[in-house]
Amino acid sequence: MEIPHKFMITKKLLKYLSLSSLIAILLLSCSPHHEQSTFTNAGPVAQAQSELFYLMFWIAGIIFVLVQGALIFALLNFRRKEHPIPGSDFKLPDIPPKQVHGNTKLEILWTIIPALILVAIAVPTVQTIYSTYEPPEDSDPLEIVAMGHQWWWEFRYPDEGIVTANELRVPTNRPVKVTLQSQDVIHSFWIPQVAGKKDTVPGNTNQMWFQVDEPGNYSGQCAEFCGVAHARMRFRVIAEDEADFNVWLNAMKTPPKTTSSEGYGLFLAHCSMCHSIDSYMNESYEKEITVQDDRWADWFHNQEESARVSAPNLTHLGIRTMLAAGQKDMTRENLIAWIKDPSDIKQGTRMQSVATVYQGGAAKLKEHEVEAIADYLLSQIPDGWGSVSTSTESLEEAEVMVWNTPEEHGEYLFVNQGCSGCHSLNEDEVIVGPSMYGLIDRSGSKVEGLSAEEYIYQSITYPNEYIVDGYAANVMPQIFINLSEEELNALVSYLITIK
Ligand code: CUA
Repeated sequence: MEIPHKFMITKKLLKYLSLSSLIAILLLSCSPHHEQSTFTNAGPVAQAQSELFYLMFWIAGIIFVLVQGALIFALLNFRRKEHPIPGSDFKLPDIPPKQVHGNTKLEILWTIIPALILVAIAVPTVQTIYSTYEPPEDSDPLEIVAMGHQWWWEFRYPDEGIVTANELRVPTNRPVKVTLQSQDVIHSFWIPQVAGKKDTVPGNTNQMWFQVDEPGNYSGQCAEFCGVAHARMRFRVIAEDEADFNVWLNAMKTPPKTTSSEGYGLFLAHCSMCHSIDSYMNESYEKEITVQDDRWADWFHNQEESARVSAPNLTHLGIRTMLAAGQKDMTRENLIAWIKDPSDIKQGTRMQSVATVYQGGAAKLKEHEVEAIADYLLSQIPDGWGSVSTSTESLEEAEVMVWNTPEEHGEYLFVNQGCSGCHSLNEDEVIVGPSMYGLIDRSGSKVEGLSAEEYIYQSITYPNEYIVDGYAANVMPQIFINLSEEELNALVSYLITIK
């Protein structure tokens, strides 16, 4: 059957197109300039791993050419031939060559050669495994802990008492020793241009180190399938020269310029049960680690019913460059969209299933309330760090308020600081914590030697000291110690009036 001419062209064209697109894909995937390309080496560990790759690549390449060359040579030279008999239509078949079986010399040779090749690969491989495990002996490495969580990264700086998430700041030209852990499933820590991959395994500690030569941003990615949002478990390494890095270290220990606003209250009421924001305070590191470890233990023992999940530390969120573990740039618009409906940006995030403000769907907040939380978070910038946005300035103006009585001031704080998000004023109504109704009547008898006022004061500043029966510890934010003496007293004066 004759194939129509038109059809043949289409077929040819298709063949050509699929071949060229295949080549294009191959070329693109090899682009050394891609932010996640392992062909750009930004430090000595990446360099060592790269050298190992090239060694194996060339050994495999040479073997491939030799084997395929021998195959092609044999196919061409020893193919079956027919010899025509002159003067007739008959052809003589090829005479089969002499059949041999077994050749001791050859067999010894092709056993020894692969063994030597394996040794040539194994020796540098093992050397590299060891050299990428411990930083060089005479160096002074920065120690960090990279903790994998579904689906974000917690970064701890134990020597500095700093906790942060999804953005790892490191100094250039100084080794960074990474302790790898996980608080749920297996993840893998990978900074393609710098080092990796190495798994973070729950209940087991791994270790590696890396070093970045040039300041800049380096893309990181979880490289072990860990659930729904695995592909969205990214992070960013921000490498800075030693001086800039130290500025950041100090900034992380400096309180933000503003702490009080409508957004602060809303944040405390709806977000602070899971997200810390105050890691610039003394001992906050130990507190954060304890809380995270407790949550992990809770989750480990009862995944179905564990109400608390680990959540990224949001201290000084205003200076972060990305949100939702590298999904979006940190802009006001993106942050508002993220708070409103996190699953829309990152399917799998646990925010909506855990925080009561979502009840499984979009945030049950008004537009201006979401904006207020976003503005509050973006205003979380260490005092003296860069410029402060205009929205923060207007918040500062709002703070200048005059109170006729301490009770009035206390009532304002009760709402403004987020207390009302968890504590009802009605008898028998429980939002999250105990109702404040009739507080004065029962507070005096709670702890021997403490008056009602003293008991309430201490419960605000050290909420885990006296947990009311039937309520969990570590739920109330432990940040009210930041309030001034006057504010705390005003709050107490207001609370004892609630009947
Ligand atoms: Cu974590 Cu994949």
